[in-house]
Amino acid sequence: MAMVAPRPAVEDLNEDQAARELAWLAQEIARHDELYHRKDQPEISDADYDALRLRNEAIEARFPRLIRPDSPSRRIGAAPSEGFAKVRHAVPMLSLANAFDQEDVADFFARIRRFLNLGVEDPVEVVAEPKIDGLSVSLRYERGRFVQGATRGDGSEGENVTANLRTLAALPLVLPAGVPEVLEVRGEVYMGRHDFAEMNRQQEAAGAKVFANPRNAAAGSLRQLDPKVTAGRPLTLFAYAMGEVSAPVAETHRDFLERLRSWGFPTNPEARVCGDLEAVLAFYAEILGARAELPYDIDGIVYKVNRFDWQERMGFVSRAPRWAIAHKFPAERAETRLNSITIQVGRTGALTPVANLEPITVGGVVVSRATLHNEDEIARKDVREGDHVIIQRAGDVIPQVVSVVTEKRPKDSRPYAFPDRCPECDSLAVREPGEAARRCTGGLICPAQSVERLRHFVSRDAFDIEGLGDKHVRAFFEEGLLTSPADLFTLAEWDTESETPLAERDGWGETSAGKLFDAIEARRRIALDRFIYALGIRQVGQSTAKLLARNYGTLEALAWALTAAQDAESPEYADLINIDGIGPSVAADLIGFFAEPHNQQVLDRLVDQVRIEAVAAPAAAADSPVAGKTVVFTGTLATMGRGEAKARAEALGAKVAGSVSKKTDYVVVGADAGSKARKAEALGVATLTEEEWLELASRGA
Ligand code: IVH
Repeated sequence: MAMVAPRPAVEDLNEDQAARELAWLAQEIARHDELYHRKDQPEISDADYDALRLRNEAIEARFPRLIRPDSPSRRIGAAPSEGFAKVRHAVPMLSLANAFDQEDVADFFARIRRFLNLGVEDPVEVVAEPKIDGLSVSLRYERGRFVQGATRGDGSEGENVTANLRTLAALPLVLPAGVPEVLEVRGEVYMGRHDFAEMNRQQEAAGAKVFANPRNAAAGSLRQLDPKVTAGRPLTLFAYAMGEVSAPVAETHRDFLERLRSWGFPTNPEARVCGDLEAVLAFYAEILGARAELPYDIDGIVYKVNRFDWQERMGFVSRAPRWAIAHKFPAERAETRLNSITIQVGRTGALTPVANLEPITVGGVVVSRATLHNEDEIARKDVREGDHVIIQRAGDVIPQVVSVVTEKRPKDSRPYAFPDRCPECDSLAVREPGEAARRCTGGLICPAQSVERLRHFVSRDAFDIEGLGDKHVRAFFEEGLLTSPADLFTLAEWDTESETPLAERDGWGETSAGKLFDAIEARRRIALDRFIYALGIRQVGQSTAKLLARNYGTLEALAWALTAAQDAESPEYADLINIDGIGPSVAADLIGFFAEPHNQQVLDRLVDQVRIEAVAAPAAAADSPVAGKTVVFTGTLATMGRGEAKARAEALGAKVAGSVSKKTDYVVVGADAGSKARKAEALGVATLTEEEWLELASRGA
């Protein structure tokens, strides 16, 4: 392999040199892409290739004006660089403490007075603003030019999404004269509700990924490796806070917002200065009432002390400012009829009951299905087909059935009988002692499990094959075109010989078929952690996959160790169990997976088709949606002990509490749960099954 000659440091380049360098990089990277993808004759190592792409990105971040139309960072179908470069925030990006009722807000005002030693008569002005349900970003301007944009990440370090942010029409790229030399503006990138619905319609029509809510859609659209994809998504933003600045810009938050507006940043038109507790509570009630009419999702109101000198004095406690608080809206509820209960079979065979509802709008979103979690939950709430039920939707969580309106129960109603056979393959469905889920025993013969495994394999966090939606996977499976993951990589070959090529089929055309084959081709290179995650081994989510990739380095080493670990006395078993985050139960599933001859065949075929790359440096975990949330575990968990559950949740930045209160965000309900689950229900706190929790906890890791 050839070496890449050392080149001048990015910081040392002047504009002319940078332009020449970008031209050279565009040509060079294209040449290596060609050598690698088409000729199968790479000249440089993967690490050197990645270094070229990173250098290209770094120069573009410094000289955004010089980004070329043929830049490798813009090209569709180019080999993806694994993830984004990291950006350290000069001023940390904080989160906010929560207030759940008027008392909490009154406490907030009392704390401000106490802290600043104010008299009862001294006015405390706060600015109240809707809390936008999107994702926060930091926008850095130097000499009035947008030079870098980053996600929040863990608050100290985020991801460099400059190229993607540049595609937002709402983001000013150049600021008027007179702005400080260094100016960091913070704000929320979001997707309006109408745009979200429209985009989802288009995604669905194209067989592409459909997002659960505007927040997920915004996050997914911004964190695209290809900025062209972001450019096609209707993202916008509100600016609302300050990061590093080289000179003061205002004395109050209100004036700061005013200046932002005059510099061309969109700011929330609802923001209002409130003189006291009564005024903020009135504002809260007003916005809560108008919530459904606002064109974007909000989940509460943020109150910020108006005077910057006071903010400065108050400072921070742990990761949140003392001078601001988020007053959360209650979870939205509605009553509707439960028409029927259907059973879904997941890739690990778990039978999940789903309530099919008379469609109803909850917080601006039409809900027609809600989770019933599992058999015990149905029995505990005595949910029956035909019942009127109260459903609840809170933030990111799947809508849930909270309770039954028993007064409206039809006379002829009968308790729901949970099936003991798989609705898809009719195999026996059994419930292991201590497990909340009943599982289909059909394994490889169960089509539902096979389809779900394939869907998982191509999903965003796994092989991420764009253009291959759930419907297509099922159709390809039923036709026998895609029964094993490796089939994906021979699909194009099959297609050229087929009498009914994809492009001529219903719902497909030359373009969509071509795009699909390109997307598959681009994924022949894949990072080890994604590869492991894609296998869909029970209990192996993204974070466990990362742990394994980091600990074993290559698939060969992993497979070898897990085969040897079948012997519980072996050093390989001891090593496996010693990994922090892998308990005996996960170990058993891992070992079981590699011991199964059919899985071995699937792997062998797959390995022939793809090139697996070692993982990049460990990423910070705290991009997790559970960071900052308060979680209570109750009942017996199947996959781990309470201590481990706690440690893992804490590692993701969650707070684990022993009892349920209105401050609890999630209650994770294991088998035989009792009063805590009931209390959660009474307080309207979201409950999750262990599997739902693991899924949520594995996101963003
Ligand atoms: S101010 C130091 N204002 O809420 C204060 N945050 O829970 C920094 N958010 O990470 C945040 N709307 O993503 C602020 N009007 C608003 C907001 C807002 C939404 C988000 C933001 C932040 C999170 C904290």
